[in-house]
Amino acid sequence: MAGDRADAVAFYRAQLGRDVDIADDEELLLEREGGTVIASVRLAPGHGTLELRTMVVDARRQRTGVGTRLLARAGRAIGERECYCICWSYLETFYGTADFVRIAPTALPEFLRKRFAAAKDQIAMRRAPR
Ligand SMILES: CC(C)(COP(=O)(O)OP(=O)(O)OC[C@H]1O[C@@H](n2cnc3c(N)ncnc32)[C@H](O)[C@@H]1OP(=O)(O)O)[C@@H](O)C(=O)NCCC(=O)NCCS
Repeated sequence: MAGDRADAVAFYRAQLGRDVDIADDEELLLEREGGTVIASVRLAPGHGTLELRTMVVDARRQRTGVGTRLLARAGRAIGERECYCICWSYLETFYGTADFVRIAPTALPEFLRKRFAAAKDQIAMRRAPR
């Protein structure tokens, strides 16, 4: 939805202090409270697979279960598809709750391997197709 997209861009800008480009073919999942966005995540298709990216909870609402709730929704949206995620190493257990499993960076699809190479303190995770 166009409204969701604009709200997500504004939310990411406020939370991350930068603009996030959201392509038209991405699925966007938002958590709202009284209409206000409190969390967002993107499911980006690309190169025949799917990537979960830019999972962000409003800084004032972190560690209150919002991220877990949104991640569970993302898991349902991913459904039977394969999905990759490049994330902070300390979030391995968090993403594990949605069946993401740590993999060797060499097992990433090539377009993600390049991005991973530029990242620090991150791990590669994959949710297997059902
Ligand atoms: C990471 C993030 C999405 C998690 O969402 P959240 O709503 O804060 O997480 P929850 O309250 O559902 O936490 C569930 C569990 O995940 C783990 N966890 C969440 N945030 C964590 C953190 N910063 N460090 C370590 N463990 C964390 C904990 O085990 C936590 O359980 P606990 O609070 O009982 O210890 C959120 O904190 C966030 O937006 N952080 C900043 C942006 C970011 O780093 N995004 C992830 C990019 S890979």
